[in-house]
Amino acid sequence: MAKILVTGGTGFIGSHTIVDLIENGFSVVSIDNHARSSSYAVAGIEQITGKKVKNYKVDLKNFDETRAVFQENPDITGVIHFAAYKAVGESVLEPILYYENNIFGLINLLKCVQEFEVADFVFSSSCTVYGNPDTIPVTESSPVKKAESPYGATKQMGEQVLADFTKAIEKTAVILLRYFNPVGAHPSALIGESPVGKPQNLVPAITQTAIGKLPKMMVFGTDYPTRDGSCVRDYIHVCDIAHAHTLAIQYLADKKNKTRCDIFNLGTGDGVTVLEAIHTFEEVSGIKLNYELGPRRAGDVVAIYANNNLAVKELGWKIKYGLTDMMKTAWAWELKIKEAEEKVKSN
Ligand code: UD1
Repeated sequence: MAKILVTGGTGFIGSHTIVDLIENGFSVVSIDNHARSSSYAVAGIEQITGKKVKNYKVDLKNFDETRAVFQENPDITGVIHFAAYKAVGESVLEPILYYENNIFGLINLLKCVQEFEVADFVFSSSCTVYGNPDTIPVTESSPVKKAESPYGATKQMGEQVLADFTKAIEKTAVILLRYFNPVGAHPSALIGESPVGKPQNLVPAITQTAIGKLPKMMVFGTDYPTRDGSCVRDYIHVCDIAHAHTLAIQYLADKKNKTRCDIFNLGTGDGVTVLEAIHTFEEVSGIKLNYELGPRRAGDVVAIYANNNLAVKELGWKIKYGLTDMMKTAWAWELKIKEAEEKVKSN
């Protein structure tokens, strides 16, 4: 059973990926310092899979502690690297926090990958690297544009570091996975997204408004040149994203990679407007959402969605979930959080 190290294993995409890896016969260890996630996810993963998962509460910025994880697990054959900060707005306000965390973490991890001769490495990248694209859908060869935020810059730099790494270090091959907009939650409602503070992303803003945690939400911009004036994005279920990581690790293990740094877009290929996403949620939940039409948010791109042909053809990726499932599972997760919070209050 191949052993995979997942960094950021208690985060949103990390936790779903661990479940998918275990369900596909991999053994997993996790590193997560819980800076932006909580240890509840480990319990959720164990409940879903029936397997114990070891999480090392280690900050990747601490090289010695990171190295100790590799020393203790010399049989790690692959690394999937999620651990990073991801709030676009916060990165603009605190650029050093982002460069320090996202870049130092990656560098320390790669030093270990090199020393312990780990063969396979999958990097959590983002469609943010395409900036405001000239043509949509974007393919993996669409130009990488100037980053719109320090967060975006850290993803571009990460990709560059890894491309250079694979040119020099022959023992390791890399896959860069460029996610579009991951949303939804595991159908069991045992793991999901738990944003720290006020949610910045659309779907948590929708579900937290619907449940009453937020009094109302804002649609950022209704004068864009799109079919209803709101921005277009490619929402993709987190379980579909998670499974693509298992396929990517398997692809590398089977030596099917075309180069030593392959790139895949992970999106559905469907563009959905903010208003369409809201209306789908309303249909699924039966709740009339309290939203207002507001001004544009700085840094937003108008419209982006993926051409995912490469991931479908090469990785054998099949998308299982549609927008309705994304909203249903996100809502079930929000209801589960409420139930848990009420239990705590009544105890
Ligand atoms: C951004 C990044 C993406 C990153 C993700 C992680 C860019 C271009 N994209 O995605 O790479 O992985 O954050 O956090 O940098 N919206 C509202 N009201 C809200 C919240 C959002 O109308 O309360 C709208 C936004 O204006 C946008 C859409 O919903 O049009 C999606 O926003 P969001 O969920 O924040 O994701 P992105 O900005 O697309």
